[in-house]
Amino acid sequence: MIKLVDVSKEYDNGVKALSKINLNIDKGEFVFIVGPSGAGKSTLIKLLLKEVEPTEGKIYLNNMDITRVKNRRIPYIRRNIGVVFQDFRLLHNKTIYENVAFAMEILGTHPKEIRRRVPMILSMVNLSRRADSFPDQLSGGEHQRVAIARAIVNSPPVLIADEPTGNLDPDTASEIMRVLMDINARGTTVLMATHAKDIVDSMKKRVIAIEKGSIIRDEERGGYGYDI
Ligand SMILES: Nc1ncnc2c1ncn2[C@@H]1O[C@H](COP(=O)(O)OP(=O)(O)O)[C@@H](O)[C@H]1O
Ligand SMILES: [Mg+2]
Repeated sequence: MIKLVDVSKEYDNGVKALSKINLNIDKGEFVFIVGPSGAGKSTLIKLLLKEVEPTEGKIYLNNMDITRVKNRRIPYIRRNIGVVFQDFRLLHNKTIYENVAFAMEILGTHPKEIRRRVPMILSMVNLSRRADSFPDQLSGGEHQRVAIARAIVNSPPVLIADEPTGNLDPDTASEIMRVLMDINARGTTVLMATHAKDIVDSMKKRVIAIEKGSIIRDEERGGYGYDI
């Protein structure tokens, strides 16, 4: 489903963020990408989203070489990968319903399908009664559930989350993890970058550890592996 072959990324300022990354992620997996700040986790995610281009190597999404995809075909990536960030990135002048609906509108989805799908997804993340609220009226955990709803409303086969619990207290973080596990159990491949050791240790999922731009460990049912 996702495959990286000898992928390296050096930024224009000469920083080598990733070197010779080789990686295979199958459909339906839940994978943690762990490592200290600056290890290259976000760069790896940006490469998959085509927000940055690799300096060398190949990146495949569903067997399609996305390093060869022209920028104007980025909708292909939008349809295949939903994404959630640490800082939520909701539209503050739109309601919760409208925030989620907007993700479907930009892909040109039929209004009837939007009216059918949005309430279903809001119910799945337990936010039905918040549909008409604005982001400023929500708690941190609710914010992140809206962001997750928006990321999965177009049914992408892959969900990527970059430090999705980074701004949340431990209880709220566990609630977000339950939502992500639930989405994974329904068949979506989930990739989550984090340095939350407790979460990674408790989940017993595949753990890919990155340090200084290299994969230092790749374990099924692993833990974080060292204290930070
Ligand atoms: N746009 C950029 N330009 C230059 N250097 C960058 C840029 N983004 C990240 N870096 C550098 O690349 C390295 C990896 O960063 P990043 O992928 O954000 O790591 P992580 O998400 O694991 O904290 C760091 O040294 C960081 O400073
Ligand atoms: Mg990061």
